[in-house]
This record gives sequence, C-alpha cells and structure tokens, in this order.
Amino acid sequence: MRKIRILVVDDDERNVVLLTSKLQSDGYETDEAYDGLEALKKVESFNPDLILMDVMMPKIDGYEAVRRLKTSEKTRYIPVIMLTAKGEIEDKVLGLDIGAEEYLCKPCSLVEVSARVRSLLHMKELQMKLVEMEKLAALGHLVDGIAHEIRNPLMTIGGLARRVKEKIDDEQLQRHINFIIHEVERLENMVKRVDEYKKAQRSELKKGNINDVVTESVGEIKCVAEAKNIDIKLSLMQDTPLMMIDKATLKKAILNILQNSIDAVDKKGEIEITTMPSGGGYIELTIKDTGSGIKAEALKDIFNPFYTSRMTGAGLGLTIAYKIIQDHRGDITVESPQGMGTIVSIKLPVLQEG
Ligand SMILES: Nc1ncnc2c1ncn2[C@@H]1O[C@H](COP(=O)(O)OP(=O)(O)O)[C@@H](O)[C@H]1O
Ligand SMILES: [Mg+2]
Repeated sequence: MRKIRILVVDDDERNVVLLTSKLQSDGYETDEAYDGLEALKKVESFNPDLILMDVMMPKIDGYEAVRRLKTSEKTRYIPVIMLTAKGEIEDKVLGLDIGAEEYLCKPCSLVEVSARVRSLLHMKELQMKLVEMEKLAALGHLVDGIAHEIRNPLMTIGGLARRVKEKIDDEQLQRHINFIIHEVERLENMVKRVDEYKKAQRSELKKGNINDVVTESVGEIKCVAEAKNIDIKLSLMQDTPLMMIDKATLKKAILNILQNSIDAVDKKGEIEITTMPSGGGYIELTIKDTGSGIKAEALKDIFNPFYTSRMTGAGLGLTIAYKIIQDHRGDITVESPQGMGTIVSIKLPVLQEG
C-alpha cells in the first residue's frame, strides 16, 4: 500500500532533517523543499497528502506558497501546517486567513508536530469518506430516477418487439428483432438490479454472529465456485462476540463479493475467507482471491454504480455491498497488489456490552 506522503518545506536544513526523520519514524514517506518555489514544484511531482510549511523563506515565502496552493483546485485540499519562528498573533491570523489548516510556532516539539499531523490526516480521511458517501448517495438517487423513467418504455419496446417477431418471416429482420429483444432484456435486468439496490438500502440490525452469515453465504455459492474449480477456504475465529447485523443484507454483501471473486478467477483458483479481531472493537472479515486483480486506476471507481469491466456486469454488486456495510457502521476496503489477486476487507463493530 502507498505510504502517506508529507512534504517538509523549510530553508533551514537542520529543521528539515529533524522533521523528516521524525515523520519517517512515524511511518510516513517524506520529501523536502527549501523555498516556496521549490515547494510548489515538489507538490506537483511528489503529490503529498500533507505539507509542513515554514513562513520565512527565500524566493517566495510560505504565505505566498500556501496562497497559491489554495487557489488551485488540484492542490487546495492538501492540508497545510504552517511553522514559523515569529509566532506573532498577526502572523497567526494571516496564516489562517490564507487557508493553512494549522499553525505551529517554532521551535515546536516534534511530539506536537507528530500529533497535529496525525489529527489533520485523520480529519482529512473523514472528510473524504463523507464526500464519497454523499457522492454515492447522489449517484444512487440518479440511478433510481433513470430506472424509474425507463421501466415503462422498456416494457413497451419489449412487448411490441415480441409481437412483431411473430409476424415476420424475413430471416435478417428476425435476427434484428431478436437482437432488440436481447438488448431490452439486458436493460430490464439492469432495472431489476437497481430495484434490488433500492431494497438493499435498509438493514435492520439485530444481535447476530458474523461467522454464521459467512458460513451460510459460502453454502449458497459453493456449487458455483466448484463448477469453476475454485476452492473456498474458511478460517473463522473462535468465540466471535455478538454483533449488530442484518443477516439477510450482510449475506447479500458477502455473496456479491464472493461472486466477484469467482468471476475474477479464470479457471482453478482459491478464495480464502477469514474472520479475526481487528482492534478498536472491530471484527475484520477478509475475502481474498487468486483472480485477475484490479488495476490501480480502476480501484477508485469500483464502488460507483454501473462501474463494471465485464460485458454482462451491471456494476452494482460493490455499490450494494458498500451501502450495506455503511448501514452496519462498518468499513469496506479493496486492495489488489499487482499480480496477487484481490483482497476485500470489511470491518464491523462489535456490540459493546452494558
Ligand atoms: N475480486 C475481484 N477481482 C477482480 N476484479 C474485481 C473484483 N471485485 C470487483 N472487481 C471489479 O470491480 C467491478 C465492479 O464490481 P461490481 O460492482 O460487483 O459489478 P459487476 O460485478 O457487475 O461488474 C468489476 O467489474 C471488476 O472490474
Ligand atoms: Mg459483481
């Protein structure tokens, strides 16, 4: 997985060394720049997730650099922490006005820098999640609206086409009409999936055991996997704590994911399903396959409604799964290290006693 990247900008090399080594030991990848202009260039090439920016620097100063970053759509969402030795109130106000997210006075303790970095990154992650959820919800409404609009015309087209088909003898016209009927069926299927998507909207959470849901899902899909020579391996944790789940919708999510894994394996392969405690009061369910994997550039789209790489896919399987896991107050992520298949990981909260 890509490490989180932090750009450190300061004209004082000692500061840069101090900060970067602390950040590296925190597990971040770092790059550095020694003046404002260089910082702007580095932002383009290094593509940082966060920037630590000194104020007093040659060429252009930190304020100007941040001002420019914040006026560009591409870079305005990168959080910036400004560091300055002056620490005057006006500077603080100026720093915040310009749009820096945080302001720290130098000399600042490395522990504090590290804590601020962590909290800003956390905030940014939450924000991105919110945007993602809103986007999916908006897309969901749109899709629903379109499905509603095309349902009736589709019925008319399909019905008429079938009637016309009975009346014509011409072979070529027969082929054409068959094609129309086939395509209408494809669209009807899509509308059906959208209805299913709408139904999947609601999960009613009750106390339940996640392992039971996994076992039932596997039971249902086993024969499809076996037909393709795919082994399903289960490694489930013992004494799973009770969780608030909707067995029916959760099963639907798991089945969608398993179906994707089966689709992704060409012939002969393996699917490994694991449940384990994941800390912070969560249980993690992972579904790992030895299939084709997902290209890095496609990963950001796979949860979108109608995103599919398959000829016959509706592109709603993961959209449905995402919504269901959201309703369970959980989290779903997908990784696909090159040449290693795909790993879907779902984290669900454990029921807190008392
Ligand atoms: N386990 C997997 N292996 C490879 N590709 C996957 C996997 N899961 C999902 N994908 C990709 O994500 C896309 C979207 O999945 P999904 O929403 O279920 O729609 P569909 O299965 O109808 O295409 C798939 O078309 C495929 O490209
Ligand atoms: Mg699918």
